[in-house]
Order: sequence, then structure tokens, then C-alpha cells
Amino acid sequence: MEPEEILKRHGQEHLARYEGLSAAEREEYRRRLAKIDWETVELWKHPEDLSGGGAIRPIEGVDLYTIAARREAWEKEGVKAIRAGKVAAVLLAGGQGTRLGWDGPKGSYNIGITRPVYIFERLVANLTEVCNACMATVPLYIMTSEKNDAETRAFFRAHDYFGYPAGYVKFFSQEMAPCVDFQGKILLEGKGKLALSPNGNGGWYSSLVKAGYAAELKKRGVEWLNVFGVDNVLQRIADPVFLGATIASGKNSGAKFVRKSSPEEKVGVLCLKDGLPSVIEYYEMGEAEKNLRNERGELVYSFGMTLNYLFRLDRLAEIADKKIPVHVVRKKVSYLGEDGTLVVPERENAYKFETLILDMVRLAGSCLPFEVVREREFAPIKNKTGADSVETARELLKQNGVEL
Ligand code: UTP
Repeated sequence: MEPEEILKRHGQEHLARYEGLSAAEREEYRRRLAKIDWETVELWKHPEDLSGGGAIRPIEGVDLYTIAARREAWEKEGVKAIRAGKVAAVLLAGGQGTRLGWDGPKGSYNIGITRPVYIFERLVANLTEVCNACMATVPLYIMTSEKNDAETRAFFRAHDYFGYPAGYVKFFSQEMAPCVDFQGKILLEGKGKLALSPNGNGGWYSSLVKAGYAAELKKRGVEWLNVFGVDNVLQRIADPVFLGATIASGKNSGAKFVRKSSPEEKVGVLCLKDGLPSVIEYYEMGEAEKNLRNERGELVYSFGMTLNYLFRLDRLAEIADKKIPVHVVRKKVSYLGEDGTLVVPERENAYKFETLILDMVRLAGSCLPFEVVREREFAPIKNKTGADSVETARELLKQNGVEL
């Protein structure tokens, strides 16, 4: 069927406009139109269905005291797995980082003060430290999106992979999804250009498969993937203790957590929902649960997620077969107005479609929450100033002896 006919069927005829496009641009645009995933786009009708209820309970995890007592044995186990080539790292760097307001890949942001120190550089340095201690190299897979792929690759090349062996660094790009207005109409960002956004950080495994890397990992004998976000410049990657604890637990996944600093902290919390490990976003949790304390006065739901997970590779294929839910989220999206000029909205005007890695923890079926010391391992950069910002991260880096 011709794209125009499909558009009509879905009430999106406004997209079938080609004036001002060259023949090649027109062809490219039509190819894009033919690729639209209508099942996803139709979800705009049910944005509220996904916050989902369900009874929640605390989940058992390993706290700092347990970790201190078992550190040596777990570390040994983790180092063994790394040396045997059973561990790879996956950096999720496909996000747009709009809150930071930096016009390049977030990892290329310079957080240095007296010298350049890039976010990517910090992450690679953290991983290098572990590799050196283990005398092994952990393969690093970096997920980008169409919007930042070329720039990310070029940035790594220009900086000589920050000293990491280039043959161990691979890039793959995640899929994009169209943005729609609140009436479900797909937006354009220019003539013959759909307003597309990366399809969320839950798309990483299917994109890894599409790039052929999941098969490569399996062939290499990799059993565990440490998947982590770009924001946290203090995190330990391929942490042998975390690996050892997760392997020893027999669980299919592991998640590093920090204790929530207050009931109001805007962080997703790991708990059990209907008996399965689930990350509940701060805006989904009721006031009573948010403020619930145990007999020692500690918050009951306090396992704040740091976006540093371990997944057993052989479970991931199964997870991917189950449907990862698509979240329909309200965002500000610039679009081509009626008069042909770009409109930059001041408030949310559109839905984006995203799958989230946190839903994979639930699909994994079991998860070991693993506590880390906030001041030593959690310095997320979301904003330029204020909470979780360049400012707070700089302070924490300095406290941890990193020269900026
Ligand atoms: P965030 O939730 O901070 O989203 O991503 P974001 O798009 O990067 O930033 P804002 O909200 O626009 O400011 C958490 C992690 O997930 C990755 C990000 O790169 C970051 O490491 N991510 C997010 C992806 O890889 N792909 C996506 O589609 C979204």
C-alpha cells in the first residue's frame, strides 16, 4: 500500500505534503512515512493507562553492612567473571539531555573547571580503573540515537577513546519514534521531516540485537551485561563486588541503589509490585507509601535507582519476547506551524513514546537490590544548576579526589 493511503487510514493526511522537496528528499520522506509504527502511535489515546496500580511491598536487598561483611568473597567472584570474559558494559547515551540544555551528546559536556573533563571521559576512567585492577578489558557498547550517533563516534575518535582500547568500544543506534500532538496528529519538525525522538532507554536490547551485537556477545561467552546511564559521573562500572553479589544471589538481574535522601526526592524506587520487582517512579507513589517508615524511623520504600543494572544475557532474549510497555509521556516538542515556521512551545504540547529500562527489571522476574554509598557513587547530571546538576556533581567529584 502507498504511504499516502496508509496515512489517510490513520487520519494523518496532513503529512502527505511534498512541496519544496527535491525528488531525493521526497523519496527519503516517503520511506520514513512507510516505517511509522502505527501500533505505537495509536497509543496516544491511552496516555493515562500506564501508571498502573497494584499492591506494593518492600523488596529485600543487600545493604552496606551485608556488603562490607561479604565484600571479599563477592569481589573475588566478580573479578573471576570479568577475567573469564563473561562481562560487558552497555552505556545508554541515546537520550536528548534536554534538561542540561547542551547542544551535543550529553557525554561530550565539559564539567572541568581548570581543564577539560568530559562526562564520557569520567565514565571511561571509572571503567578503566576496574579493568586495571582486574587485569582484563571489559567490552563497552555505547547506545546512541540518530540525533547524536555521528557526533558521539567522532567525539570518542577525537579523544582517542580516552585511552580505552578502541577495538573494545562499539557503537549502536537506537530506534526513533514519532511525536504526536494531544489530538494524535504526528508533528513535523521541518518540511518533509517528521518530529522524531529516541524511543526511550528500554529500547537498548532490541537495538543491540538489530546491530548484531547480542549474537556477538553470546558467541564471545559474555553472560552478564552491566547497563548504565550517561548521567552519573561517579558510578562504578562492571563493579566486581556488585557482580559477585548478583551472581551469588542466583537472580536474573541486579540494581544498584542509594537510600532515598527524603520522601520527596525525585527518584524511582525499587520494590515488589504484585510480587515482582518493579521500579515505581516518584510521581506514581502515593503519599502514604512515600512517607512510610519502619520501627527504626527509616523510609520503607527507600531503594532509589541509580540506573546501573546487571542483566543476565540469556534472560534478555526472553524479556525482549515479552512486550515491554510503551509509556506515553507529555513533553515539549518544537514543530512546524501552519505558516511554515518552527514553533518552540513554552509548555508541554506533545506525546512521546518511550520504553523504559526499569520495566525490564520486572520482566527479568528477579532482581538483587545492591546498596551503594551515595557520596561515593552517585553524582547524576541532569541539570546545569540546582539538584542533580553540574554544580552538585562537581562538588562530589572533588570530594572523591577528582581534579577538575
Ligand atoms: P533521562 O531520563 O535523563 O532522559 O535518561 P534524557 O532524554 O537523557 O534527558 P532529559 O530528560 O531530556 O533531560 C536517562 C538515561 O537514559 C538514556 C540517557 O542517555 C540517560 O543515560 N536514554 C534516555 C537513552 O539512551 N535513550 C532514550 O531514548 C532516553
